[in-house]
Amino acid sequence: MTPRLVPAHHDAVRRTDRPLTVTVDGTQVTGVAGQSLAGVLLAAGRTAWRTGRTGAPRGVFCGIGVCYDCLVTVNGERDVRACQRRARDGDTVTTQSRAPRPRSPAPDAASHAPEPPDAAGRTAGRP
Ligand code: FES
Repeated sequence: MTPRLVPAHHDAVRRTDRPLTVTVDGTQVTGVAGQSLAGVLLAAGRTAWRTGRTGAPRGVFCGIGVCYDCLVTVNGERDVRACQRRARDGDTVTTQSRAPRPRSPAPDAASHAPEPPDAAGRTAGRP
């Protein structure tokens, strides 16, 4: 089996192949009117555009709006399923990440040491 694309002027559904351009993380990507955002990204060679909690790459998994693996930010709207959103000319897409942020260094042990009792033998914050 070989992939093929029927030229628009021979397409029975009267496809027009009107080009569109979306910006993905500052890079312009071209597509065709009618494609989903995921379709535009895949056609541009991007198979992953998000990272999960573990840092693993994510892109299209189900393609039908069920798994939420394809989430992107579109024109400032977070958590848009790229497989369900039709691309519009001029859309601005920003990829998202659920990878955990690096942890701050462990606090110094001395900062958590209990305060010494006062002259009466009381500790701070306790009666
Ligand atoms: S790929 Fe599963 S919701 Fe988009």
